[in-house]
Amino acid sequence: MKKNQWMKSLLACSMALLAYMPTQAQEPVNGQLWMDVDGNHINAHGGNIIQYGDTYYWYGENRPYRGFTTEEGVGVYSSKDLKTWKNEGIALAVTTEAGDDIERGCIMERPKVVYNKKTRKFVMLFHLELKGRGYEAARVAFAESDSPTGPFRYLRSTRVNAKRWPFDMNKKAQKAAQQTDASKWKDWWTPEWRKEVEKGMYLWKDFQGGQMSRDMTVFIDDDGKAYHITSSQENLTLLVSELTDDFLDFTGKYNMVAPGGQNEAPCIIKHDGTYWLICSGCTGWAPNEARMFSAPSIWGPWKQWKTPFVGTATGYRDMPANKTFGAQGTYIYSKDGKPIFMADIWNERHLSQSLHLWLPIEFGADGVPVIKWVDKW
Ligand code: GAL
Repeated sequence: MKKNQWMKSLLACSMALLAYMPTQAQEPVNGQLWMDVDGNHINAHGGNIIQYGDTYYWYGENRPYRGFTTEEGVGVYSSKDLKTWKNEGIALAVTTEAGDDIERGCIMERPKVVYNKKTRKFVMLFHLELKGRGYEAARVAFAESDSPTGPFRYLRSTRVNAKRWPFDMNKKAQKAAQQTDASKWKDWWTPEWRKEVEKGMYLWKDFQGGQMSRDMTVFIDDDGKAYHITSSQENLTLLVSELTDDFLDFTGKYNMVAPGGQNEAPCIIKHDGTYWLICSGCTGWAPNEARMFSAPSIWGPWKQWKTPFVGTATGYRDMPANKTFGAQGTYIYSKDGKPIFMADIWNERHLSQSLHLWLPIEFGADGVPVIKWVDKW
């Protein structure tokens, strides 16, 4: 064989070999698709990350390319460096049983997995909507597993804090909340309406059956206590509720944050003893300006700040800070004391292709969080 012929066949062989080799995952770049080690976009949205042993686990909504209902379940990926991710499959799968809570075609959103040191179980809480009922059910669901990659066992779903008043609401305020019938109220968004919401008109509407629970997160405090933070009352008011020691139920202690403020996508971090809550407004899949609150205790009082986002998303459609760079938050994960704000840039037409956006949270000299665009974190 002549030398150049030999070179040609070597080249052809290597090309053929390369075609069969999995695409190498590239370092994630904000505003672009993030590939796993098999070369597929990471289909884990609205989720969170935990570290267990020397491995990170990333849980999230496995979304279909078309449509918006859940066809697979909650997915999980693993990594040793937070950059190279291996698809570990479906951690909590939908069922095929008609009428089942998590029947294929339900909606599972914003899953959050936490490890319970006492029970040694991985506990997953997520927002569940029942099949064929749009977003009306507004429930929180529980699942647990002995292994971080699952399979998680589905336990149950519920509304929250039925027949309970917020712990900081006195008798007079409880009476005032019962004065208005939300179903008969005609005009939303008037100052009178807002006043009634603040008094607890929607709290009373769902008092017997339990409060609604949609966008949510779970927060574990330094003392190991866990809290469920959720968008309730037709997405108008956030509720902070204490979970039982096994993280599988509510203790009944809860209160409201910013009644009538219409906040969702709650993300929380505790920094130097202060709790910082970063949320979005309610515009569905479309981005809006983030809102931020701080408090000296998980029970408040919460003070509102301007959005922590500054500047523009250079290179990514020049999305401004007042649109949260086109994204909506899902979780704050801290690695070695350095917090990362995890968000989704939703692709409404192809939800599985929604982009991931991770940005470092910096604390200014005044101790207030600031989030700027970076291509890589
Ligand atoms: C968003 C919410 C998402 C999803 C979506 C549905 O506002 O944050 O989790 O529920 O609405 O339109």
